[in-house]
Amino acid sequence: MNEQLLKYLQKRPKVYEPSTAKFWDDEHISKGMLEAHLNPNWDAATRNHEFVEKSVAWLKECVNPKAYANLLDIGCGPGIYAEKFYQSGYKVTGMDFSKRSIDYAIESANSKNFDIRYIYQNYLEMDFQNEYDIITLIYCDFGALSTMDRQKLLNNVYKALKPNGTFVVDVFSTNFNQSKKEEQSWSYHDGGYWSEKPHACFESFYRYDDDNTLLDQYIVLTNDDTNCYNIWNHLFTTDELIKDFSDAGFSDIQFFGDVTGNNYSENGDVICVKAKK
Ligand SMILES: C[S@@+](CC[C@H](N)C(=O)[O-])C[C@H]1O[C@@H](n2cnc3c(N)ncnc32)[C@H](O)[C@@H]1O
Repeated sequence: MNEQLLKYLQKRPKVYEPSTAKFWDDEHISKGMLEAHLNPNWDAATRNHEFVEKSVAWLKECVNPKAYANLLDIGCGPGIYAEKFYQSGYKVTGMDFSKRSIDYAIESANSKNFDIRYIYQNYLEMDFQNEYDIITLIYCDFGALSTMDRQKLLNNVYKALKPNGTFVVDVFSTNFNQSKKEEQSWSYHDGGYWSEKPHACFESFYRYDDDNTLLDQYIVLTNDDTNCYNIWNHLFTTDELIKDFSDAGFSDIQFFGDVTGNNYSENGDVICVKAKK
């Protein structure tokens, strides 16, 4: 086990090297994640719920649910946005590959009598054709994907939209963590976020400035195993977004400062893209 730990610590991961275990869909980690989603005041897994309300109001202004009703929220988590979209008049489908989040979302919708369809699926494998008026991917998840997966997802989304359909997605800009230096630290836990067992967590922050990409790496060591979680964050310029979205066929590519429709700023940490099929 020491050998495995040293192997991870000794070498700088290659850009977009995957984790060695599930993160979002892990039986234990997903418990802490769901708690983070549901806390209305945290900006952890879902942004604070006041922000969510503003986002939904802005989207409703952009794409009228009376005329363009079919909405797909990919990476929907426990359905916090999905329920508000439904209440705004959209016909909502939510997709996520966290079983715990999707189970929670289904139960919550049933308890409120909300007619929302939830699908437990990897959005990289979705295969819809001309079905949705609007597709959303919210909270900077697009940048966690490798270059190839981002292309694949853009193609999937483009295909899934009806002609003239709208895609709304937010990403981190190259201003995000611009001055943060590479660092490493470790901590011991009797049980906690990464594992219910006693564990040590070796945390590293790496910069891949040639690729505008950051890595938060967590190596988690228990008595039984060693897992390495690589959380990637690709940072975007508007030029890169225009190229990638145009290559996938999108037009009318607009930029905002966030998913509530604030004005785009060159100095902001976030870029929200709204584009048409
Ligand atoms: C940062 S959370 C955001 C959740 C939600 N959009 C929100 O803002 O409340 C990212 C979500 O995307 C889901 N996710 C990540 N990669 C995915 C994939 N390839 N397919 C489906 N869901 C994915 C995770 O399980 C998680 O629920």
